[in-house]
Amino acid sequence: MTMTDPATTATSRIPQPKTVLMCRPEHFTVSYRINPWMHPEDPTSTATAVAQWEVLYRTYLDLGFDVHLIEPIAGLPDMVYAANGGFVLDGIAYGASFTYPQRQPEGPAYMDWFREQGFDVRAPEEVNEGEGDFLRVGDVILAGTGFRTDSGSHDELARIFGREVVSLQLINPSFYHLDTAIAVLSDGTGPEPANIAYLPSAFDEASLEEIRTRFPDAVVVTEEDAAVLGLNSFSDGYNVVIASRAKDFERQLRERGYNPIGVDLSELLLGGGGVKCCTLELRR
Ligand code: ARG
Repeated sequence: MTMTDPATTATSRIPQPKTVLMCRPEHFTVSYRINPWMHPEDPTSTATAVAQWEVLYRTYLDLGFDVHLIEPIAGLPDMVYAANGGFVLDGIAYGASFTYPQRQPEGPAYMDWFREQGFDVRAPEEVNEGEGDFLRVGDVILAGTGFRTDSGSHDELARIFGREVVSLQLINPSFYHLDTAIAVLSDGTGPEPANIAYLPSAFDEASLEEIRTRFPDAVVVTEEDAAVLGLNSFSDGYNVVIASRAKDFERQLRERGYNPIGVDLSELLLGGGGVKCCTLELRR
């Protein structure tokens, strides 16, 4: 094995320009339970959620991202998790169709926004929760199923985008969206080969095999880091915005020449979401 000098590796990673959509958590609360993280009986603070979210928003602006905002809607407390609002690639916005009735109105709300922004909007026929379960890595789209997104939408996705879609089976209810179990570190738009980080125990055997074959160099994160939604992170190919509590993940990223930036979204974690959940990538 050859030793790599972290400093050298670091300078070779080049941040890619990113355009994202976010939704300020003005109506955030936990009033229903649709994932194991949510406890409606416990108090939440909308003010804290907004303050923590503002730090993430500022972080993206400081990194030079082009950040768009969608107007939050009263009565939709989970709308802050913009990643679920759709999947946008090649100027096409594939709309979301939510699993649970509590979030269903978000689908059309996000589709309206995409339409206003000039995206080619495709209304979904199948249940899917957008970028929560669909991750573009290199030439393929990794697609999760098991808890939310129906595998039928994987075919719909392949038809619409004309790309290979790799179905992955999620098996742990705490990691119910693909973006809680896989982080895209390099999406293939930069000079480096596409790469990911993941939590092995979140997947069934066949899916693990698929991941290991496709990404032999992937970062494997600890259960501890995954339990603070450490994988729910957003990378521009060099800077990786992660949960500040995911310490070992932070160390691994640094070793690989990435620049981890920790943020604390503890209040939004009460809804079962983190950094990536609050971020929907827009690709023209
Ligand atoms: N409370 C939301 C739900 O259960 C959290 C969504 C998290 N989003 C994500 N992309 N993982 O639907």
